[in-house]
Amino acid sequence: MPESEGLRNEEEAERLHEPRGIPLHNIHRHDVVIVGAGLAALSGALEAAKAGDVGVITKLFPTRSHSGAAQGGIAASLANEEEDHWEWHMFDTVKGSDYLGDQDAIEIMVREAPSVVRGMEHMGCPFSRTEDGRVAQRKFGGHTKDFGRGGPVLRACYAADRTGHVLLHTLWEQCVKHQVRFYSEYYALSLIVKDRVCRGVVALDMATGEVHIFHAKAVLLGTGGYGRAFSITSNSLANTGDGLGLVLRVGIPLEDMEFVQFHPTGLYPHGILITEGARGEGGHLINDKGERFMERYAPEKMELAPRDVISRAIQTEIDEGRGIGGKGYVHLDLRHIGGDKIRELLPQIAEVVLKFVGVDITKAPIPIQPTAHYSMGGIPTDLDCHVLADGKGEILKGLYAAGECACVSVHGANRLGTNSLLEAVLYGRRAGRALAQEAKGGLPFAELPEEAAEPTLKELEWLQGAKGEEKVADLRTGFQEEMMAKCGVFRDEKDLSLLLESVKEYQKRYQKVGIKDRSKCFNTELIEAIEFGYLLDFAELIVAGALNRQESRGAHARIDYRERDDTNWLKHTLAFKTDEGIRFDYKPVTITRFKPKARVY
Ligand code: FUM
Repeated sequence: MPESEGLRNEEEAERLHEPRGIPLHNIHRHDVVIVGAGLAALSGALEAAKAGDVGVITKLFPTRSHSGAAQGGIAASLANEEEDHWEWHMFDTVKGSDYLGDQDAIEIMVREAPSVVRGMEHMGCPFSRTEDGRVAQRKFGGHTKDFGRGGPVLRACYAADRTGHVLLHTLWEQCVKHQVRFYSEYYALSLIVKDRVCRGVVALDMATGEVHIFHAKAVLLGTGGYGRAFSITSNSLANTGDGLGLVLRVGIPLEDMEFVQFHPTGLYPHGILITEGARGEGGHLINDKGERFMERYAPEKMELAPRDVISRAIQTEIDEGRGIGGKGYVHLDLRHIGGDKIRELLPQIAEVVLKFVGVDITKAPIPIQPTAHYSMGGIPTDLDCHVLADGKGEILKGLYAAGECACVSVHGANRLGTNSLLEAVLYGRRAGRALAQEAKGGLPFAELPEEAAEPTLKELEWLQGAKGEEKVADLRTGFQEEMMAKCGVFRDEKDLSLLLESVKEYQKRYQKVGIKDRSKCFNTELIEAIEFGYLLDFAELIVAGALNRQESRGAHARIDYRERDDTNWLKHTLAFKTDEGIRFDYKPVTITRFKPKARVY
């Protein structure tokens, strides 16, 4: 691995304008700097490394990134097991998005999906195999034959129930081979943007507490999602939406933040993911009366309807008292699949359920509930992953985003399972290619402003010395519970209005936090405080966006506006955080092949 690119040369530093307050040995320079180390980030790093020198800043060791927790599969119309076509995949994705997905972006994704999976296969990714040695494929919700006219199709390429894990490890190995320089356990604090050009990142070395500057020709954000805004989530502790906080602070809007996906099958009571692959392999959802209740909600597709439909069905069963024993869960029954098949195809699920709730899934059903899982909205980008400063057409030079933190928008109002791994690898690759083009084109380093780190250092100093009476851990718990209760599977004006006031109250209370830990080395109390600050910033946009959108579409289900309203709301929301409050703007949805129609399963 190459030595750190730290700027030790005084003359060079002079030329690049040494920023105040940062020692020379903490200033690094790479053609491309990537924040995050999940699938989108690593896919981008690998492509960019073919043309230039790449540094990756990540708050975790790369293979601990949350992409590794994805289980059931990555979608591609390979047709390894039965007939399939990218056009079918496109139709399903558009319909799944409740017609809010941009069809140009979706077409790119589904057309290139087979090349993504083959590319990963050629890098050595250990997919499960068919009897004749091809990549195995399983069924997933909303993926159908013949433009929805047929039944579920075998489209999800998988590695048992560890698909994200094997993809992540494969890309990481390739990045190491291609000399990508990893800065593990570095936490991004701010973007350096001046005159509408992104010039790098200010980051904290969590092991030493020292602040570093990463000077770059271009920065790619691949920072993932924010499930930790909710008390019940399938997301890991690290999923605090930091990238969204970073861009909000340089005045960029966020797109479609009201669309939050609740995965139907989170393990009760923790919310840990129980893969949709379990239903793809034939699992049944059962209520307290022993009914396969999906018959009432999606009579054709049943347990393989899309996630928004199934989460609403489960929540309705629970709310109407048909949860098991009247409690907040229903059952996912896999027993009829058989022990051998379960051990072969769902080994991790069997282990997790046994360890966390003591249930042997070959002998008893799994208690499940909807769990916050995925963010359809995020940082607005164009098709090459350039971040759009105004959310529409104005590119912020030198800044890219891909994967869950971005909104290109391939998922619209509701993502189909297995399309996230696809989006991450594919759009990460597109970002990397665009970055490589720029690096090859001899794009210069824009100068580092002398004040590059100053506002960040000031804020850090405030938090490090904060002596207020509020505890971050308590604030966060209360906040997550309120988000779950008032901005969950079902929403209405009353709850959302109360929640919006509450978020503002939490923002005020955050100004009065106290940090007891004064150490420099792995000060997790400090890191969690910074994470919570980001979270409070963008959560206001989730809630305000949900209140603003007076219709039900995809994962956004308003009980006071039950219908989809294409006349007024077939458009993307852009939310700006300004000193005067949230300002909304809108942009049209790109519709090419499939005109909106009623969405029935
Ligand atoms: O259910 C799952 O295995 C999750 C997959 C996804 O979110 O795409």
